[in-house]
Amino acid sequence: MSYNLLKGKKGIIFGALDEKSIAWKVAKRAKEEGAEFVLTNAPLAMRMGEINKLAEECEAQIIPADATSVEDLENLFSKAQEILGGKIDFVLHSIGMSPNIRKGKTYGDLNYDWFLKTLDISALSFHKVMHVAEKQDAMNEWGSIVALSYIAAQRVFPDYTDMSQAKAVLESIARNYGYRLGRSKKIRVNTISQSPTKTTAGTGVGGFDAFYDYADKMSPLGNASAEACADYTITLFSDLTRYVTMQNLMHDGGFSSMGISEDIVDMISK
Ligand SMILES: NC(=O)c1ccc[n+]([C@@H]2O[C@H](COP(=O)([O-])OP(=O)(O)OC[C@H]3O[C@@H](n4cnc5c(N)ncnc54)[C@H](O)[C@@H]3O)[C@@H](O)[C@H]2O)c1
Repeated sequence: MSYNLLKGKKGIIFGALDEKSIAWKVAKRAKEEGAEFVLTNAPLAMRMGEINKLAEECEAQIIPADATSVEDLENLFSKAQEILGGKIDFVLHSIGMSPNIRKGKTYGDLNYDWFLKTLDISALSFHKVMHVAEKQDAMNEWGSIVALSYIAAQRVFPDYTDMSQAKAVLESIARNYGYRLGRSKKIRVNTISQSPTKTTAGTGVGGFDAFYDYADKMSPLGNASAEACADYTITLFSDLTRYVTMQNLMHDGGFSSMGISEDIVDMISK
């Protein structure tokens, strides 16, 4: 159902790789809600070509950008304003990648060059996005910027290795830039801490199926889907949440407030 929540708003959506991507679902919902936006992803991800299908469906243009490159981001923000014919109202940062996780490295055996890459791609890129947006004065007042996080920023999930630190940094960047952009232009900055979700990035984490099921059994509402995450993200881009900023917002079916659930007790007692 559409509520026209984003009518007249212009945005940039990072991170739609394929139909399973959270950013893909956000793009579809943003279109339904009346937004105009550009899609962007790393040049390498573009080569897979799936994003073209989404662009067609959403009547959106694609601007390639490696989110770790300030130069690419400068080009992205200036071209996006040209294409959309004005300043930006919302930005979704839906980017995560750890070479250590990809190569199956354990927490005690991390490659430090890759660790830095994890931090650059998954966390510092968020700082760079806001740095470029601020320098170009590319955002409208009362704009909204959202990045996606995971509860491993606060709790220990051993297979999430260096991404745990990346998410902790990401959430801290949201608070610190949220202060700056709030004061200067009333722009809000938040992270959404999402349930485990079956996407390329999600299922790449070791033991994913087990902690997906565990989280589902721990959460009174069950795991939040990518579609539900998109719905929530749309509310944060809308004018209905204008005083929510510098928050890490749990979107996890109740998982983060649980100690143990009856389902888990039953499972262990068997
Ligand atoms: N899937 C989950 O279980 C889960 C849970 C909580 C949070 N998240 C977060 O949600 C976000 C989106 O992930 P997803 O689950 O939709 O998976 P996904 O694999 O579909 O999306 C990750 C995206 O990051 C992009 N990316 C990687 N390196 C990049 C770079 N250098 N520049 C620009 N883009 C780059 C990829 O191309 C891809 O589009 C990530 O931040 C992820 O950590 C995912």
